Amino acid sequence: MKLKSEINQHIQEAFVKAGIEAEPMSVTEAGKPEFGDYQFNGAMALAKVLGKNPRQIATEIVEKIDADGMISRTEIAGPGFINLWIDSVWMGEKLQEMLHDGRLSILPKAQGVKTVVDYSSPNMAKQMHVGHLRSTIIGDTLARLFTFLGDEVIRQNHIGDWGTQFGMLIAYLETSGEDAYSSLGDLEQFYKDAKVKFDSDPVFADMAREYVVKLQGGDAHCRTLWQQFIDVSLGHCEEAYRTLDVTLTRKDVRAESSYNEMLTAVVEDLRSGTILQESDGAQCVFMEGSDVPLIIQKRDGGFLYATTDLAAIRYRTEVLGAKRISYVVDARQAGHFKQVFDAARRAGFVGEDVWLEHVSFGMMLDKSGRPFKTRDGGTVKLIDLLDEAVSRAKAMIEDRGTQEAAEVEKVARIVGIGAVKYAELSVNRESNYIFDWDKMLSFEGNTSLYLQYAYARIQSIFRKYGEKIDGDILLGDPLEARLGMMLLRFEDALNAAARESMPHYITSYLYELTTLFMKFYEQNPILKEGIPAELRESRLQLASLTARTIRKGLDMLGIQVLDRL
Ligand code: ARG
Repeated sequence: MKLKSEINQHIQEAFVKAGIEAEPMSVTEAGKPEFGDYQFNGAMALAKVLGKNPRQIATEIVEKIDADGMISRTEIAGPGFINLWIDSVWMGEKLQEMLHDGRLSILPKAQGVKTVVDYSSPNMAKQMHVGHLRSTIIGDTLARLFTFLGDEVIRQNHIGDWGTQFGMLIAYLETSGEDAYSSLGDLEQFYKDAKVKFDSDPVFADMAREYVVKLQGGDAHCRTLWQQFIDVSLGHCEEAYRTLDVTLTRKDVRAESSYNEMLTAVVEDLRSGTILQESDGAQCVFMEGSDVPLIIQKRDGGFLYATTDLAAIRYRTEVLGAKRISYVVDARQAGHFKQVFDAARRAGFVGEDVWLEHVSFGMMLDKSGRPFKTRDGGTVKLIDLLDEAVSRAKAMIEDRGTQEAAEVEKVARIVGIGAVKYAELSVNRESNYIFDWDKMLSFEGNTSLYLQYAYARIQSIFRKYGEKIDGDILLGDPLEARLGMMLLRFEDALNAAARESMPHYITSYLYELTTLFMKFYEQNPILKEGIPAELRESRLQLASLTARTIRKGLDMLGIQVLDRL
């Protein structure tokens, strides 16, 4: 349920009844329990505008609040803060509705927004590396989240499959004499070997250059080699997607090369819109106030990364009809996207009703704060990293000895991959992120294991209890009331995460919820002898709802739960 906006609406209605003409203002979650559940701090601002005493205004608002049993108590504090308490009977009823609703009372938007999420987008010339991990994981979470909230999501994997290096690669593929599958087992090595040959063998270098021209000219033989190359390389990525439980499929691939035919038109339209300027023989777009150009066409006529992005943006708005486009790409490309967005808007490729957003993220660092590399300084392959996550989780699970042998492999996968994803998603994406095995594979702290463990613990309560539960949800105890309140805030957390494309809002919420539940559970053992039946039933329902919220929240992150851990 949209708790906050419901309260805001009641306040807005009170404005109207009190004859206060003002833009809607929002309550905030109260910082301390003694300040109630929510606070409204708008009276001070209103006082300035209306030339009145803020306490007077707060009093007028409070008198007119009519919240249908939702608000049990109000209080005016200090210069004019309004503290609000949510009624516990009302909360109990809402919680019960959530418990009996498959979507936890979260209605899909009546009018979904057509949203393109551009994510993962690896380069085909190289093995997918850890740098693409963040884009893949953050992007997939956003795609799942937007979909759940009712938006129409179109995933776009903007793979880099074009450019001069492909001439060298297909020439090398051909001279290697083997089929693509066996020679491309290790793409990184293949690239290195090709480059060595290119630099040392002039005959090969000529052939590589010739193949670029042929490839771009549509030569059938070169096209076939190139297609094979892309197939194998993409296959490597898909292996990582499967391991990561990421929802990208082949039909989401819209490669850079697919925009080739549109590039000339892009340049022409920029030219006729008089946005294009020549600089050093190249065709450029300058952004106001900056002298760094966005290069659209090189002096030799070649197109660039930016040209393709302009064609893609146009395709996304004009053909796909997107109203929001989220580019999940690392922060180093911030300048690129600023310029591309600016050029696209000025050229009229993107209307004012379209929201363009660069969902940027920082770097992945090792424990000592350096860019994440292998021991010998090479790039860490994504697939190796994921294998290590699973084997570490496996060792830990075997050590605990709580799983049946047949289950260990499956559980290790869920725990290990979940830990990698969660660790990544639980930090503000704008910051750099420190990759730390010990921290992510811990049962303590803000980790997926902590949440999975709480979930499994709740399932064990139900296995022990084994009976159906019903009756009212009672929120007499303060901790119980806080837990109830937290459960009601789930949708607000999801909406905030979706609005700002911030997955860590979800993890922070889940962590807070789970911590609260664990505390509550420690103080109120549910199944202990002598607890009145109605209290037990109520607590069981809170436990069940907590588990379902954890599961749904983790589901948004593409992380599974376990019944036993
Ligand atoms: N292939 C690019 C890279 O690895 C990312 C592409 C991001 N998407 C885009 N539309 N430019 O750096």
